[in-house]
Amino acid sequence: MRTVVRIILSLILVVAVVAISFAFWQGRQEESRLKNELERRAGILADSLKFSVEPFLLSENIGYLERLVEKFSNRERLIGVAIYDAKDTLIASSVALKADLENNPKILAHSIQEVERLSYDRGDFISLGTKQLHAYSTPLLKNEKVTYILTLVHNAGYIQERVNRIWVNTFWRAAIQSFLIALVALVILYLQIMTPIRVATDWVRRIRQGAAIDDFDPKGRLLLGSLAEEIEKMAKSLEVARLAAEEEARLRQSVESLWTSERLKEFVKTKFQDGALFVVSNREPYMHLRKGKDVECIVPASGLVTALEPILNACGGTWIAQGSGSADKETVDAHDKIRVPPEEPRYTLRRVWVEKEEDEGFYAGFSNEGLWPLCHIAHNRPTFRSNDWQAYKAVNQKFAKAVLEEIQDVPNPYILIQDYHFALLPQMIKQKRRDAQIAIFWHIPWPNPESFGICPWCKDLLKGMLGSDIIGFHTQFHCNNFIESVDRFLESRIDYEHFTVHRKGQTTWIKPFPISIDFHSYERDQANTKETAIDILKQQGIVASYLGVGVDRLDYTKGIIERLRAIEHFLEAYPQYREKFSFIELGAPSRNTIPKYQEFTDEVAREVARINTKFQQKNWQPIYFLMKHHSHDEILPFYKAADICLVTSLHDGMNLVAKEFVTAREDEKGVLILSQFTGAARDLRDALIVNPYDIVETAEAIRRGLEMPLNDQEDRMRRMRANVRDRNIYRWASEIIEEMARIVKK
Ligand code: G6P
Repeated sequence: MRTVVRIILSLILVVAVVAISFAFWQGRQEESRLKNELERRAGILADSLKFSVEPFLLSENIGYLERLVEKFSNRERLIGVAIYDAKDTLIASSVALKADLENNPKILAHSIQEVERLSYDRGDFISLGTKQLHAYSTPLLKNEKVTYILTLVHNAGYIQERVNRIWVNTFWRAAIQSFLIALVALVILYLQIMTPIRVATDWVRRIRQGAAIDDFDPKGRLLLGSLAEEIEKMAKSLEVARLAAEEEARLRQSVESLWTSERLKEFVKTKFQDGALFVVSNREPYMHLRKGKDVECIVPASGLVTALEPILNACGGTWIAQGSGSADKETVDAHDKIRVPPEEPRYTLRRVWVEKEEDEGFYAGFSNEGLWPLCHIAHNRPTFRSNDWQAYKAVNQKFAKAVLEEIQDVPNPYILIQDYHFALLPQMIKQKRRDAQIAIFWHIPWPNPESFGICPWCKDLLKGMLGSDIIGFHTQFHCNNFIESVDRFLESRIDYEHFTVHRKGQTTWIKPFPISIDFHSYERDQANTKETAIDILKQQGIVASYLGVGVDRLDYTKGIIERLRAIEHFLEAYPQYREKFSFIELGAPSRNTIPKYQEFTDEVAREVARINTKFQQKNWQPIYFLMKHHSHDEILPFYKAADICLVTSLHDGMNLVAKEFVTAREDEKGVLILSQFTGAARDLRDALIVNPYDIVETAEAIRRGLEMPLNDQEDRMRRMRANVRDRNIYRWASEIIEEMARIVKK
């Protein structure tokens, strides 16, 4: 309130100062104008009178003079006329003046003496008691000598009156203006400032007290405009910080301290000191897509993105990736960079552009028709084309250039390269920057040397990767396969005790780093998920009392067909589950420019249709195939609603869906059925581990899962959750960073 009074008083003060200055200036102008006017009129009158008077003065006819001057008095503010001789003696005057001049003989003395002295006209403003007068004197000459002085006396009081009137008018004008301004200011302040401040204060107070942002009324949101968004973001950050602090406090009390984003941030600071972190991957963490006039920002479906994003969020740095969204180019700055995440930027995304044709050879061709089936033993024959290899080399070179640009002013940069798209990149960078600490993490399996050896460029791939200081895989088994491949195809010195390869002055450490997810943020997201299992079932028109879920990119390595057949077998073997059990497959379309993937998607759709036709009842359907890209928030309720989650990959580096499902089950219920050929099977030993090729075994696991007593489910889930919580993504990152920093010191 005091602020409002202060603002209004300031406005009134400004208006008053302006009005007074203006009145002062206007008064002065008017006064000077009126004075000049009076002076001018007096002069003209004096001149005309002079000629009438002069002949009578010469004849010294005083009586006539007196009559003459009387004739001129009392016209247009002229009070009267007086005539003095050279000795300052009053010779004649108008009646109206006579008394005043005789009672104040000195009143005009100064003017008259000056006129005598200078023989020149002169006007003076004089005061006589309360009267304001103007006396205009002009010399009357005889033989060039001043013998008489003719003085015209005007009433000048009206000048002051006029000035006073200006001041009075100004006062009223200023008063009315001040009142109106104060009124308008009050209304504006109340509506535009006081009300939003009151709403914002109320919001902030309630957020401080722990209220959820959704509880706030939409009218307030409208009033606060963009401030509401900022407050909402602040509330979310506060909530995250509050949960993190609670978690930290809780962890401090536990014997072993867990890895959190905060801890990783501090760890990176101490380990890297001034060194900056650069992450390279083909898939970008945020993709901008043009939707009509709008631009939509999505997080692509990728295990790699799920794993890496929390690390960059915690530590900052630069993520260099291919810009592949339709609106990616229009959303970057002149250096192809954009700060992300969009709602709360924490690190820089540098986009690299790859031409469509080149990308076909690099991404679809060599990476996904060559290396992907080569590394995944899913019995799909790899295709190796020379053109694809050329494109692969060219794109690796393009990324090397981008990385070198980014690190040009950074001494000892830390570079974390992701995956099979960039086998050649480590060496390309190392050749130019010996001081760069390079790690490449291979997110997919590494095959045995016999399988790997069928690649015509297997040696080049190994050489390229050995430009790194560290090569990471999910499991020791993949490390073994890699080191055996090096042994088989390259000349080098291998130290099996430390698992290092020495080649051409470079030492490379081969180590397992089982990747994971951000357990805590995943848990937090669950708290915000409003949709329940019941909503989901209703939306899909599902009436089943048991629910199974599968979440995958539509990829032939994921064992989706085998999974569907296991469900078919389960329904055949256990008909009591018909009309009771339904399975939902959330399949994200992936790499759909590659014919193999198109065929695979069609095959999945056909299998779903076939099995549904076989078992379908009026109100029940065994399988729902929801083919689209589902966001994390959309997937969560499915995880929470499921009695069983099926991860049946034929071969998988890790498989983060398994870890996501476990993390989502805060209620410690639900059963994970997990392929023995995933990296995750080594961490999540309490899952029902199956060979996905064995349809009967998987069908049996489905039955076991659905019939598993609750306490058994809880025991297993508790242990698996403890594992994911402990071996979370921050721990994964800390282990790689620790290793990089350790190598620098050597
Ligand atoms: C999976 C693999 C990652 C790979 C990614 C690429 O998540 O586990 O190793 O990098 O797919 O997917 P994309 O859609 O980019 O081809």
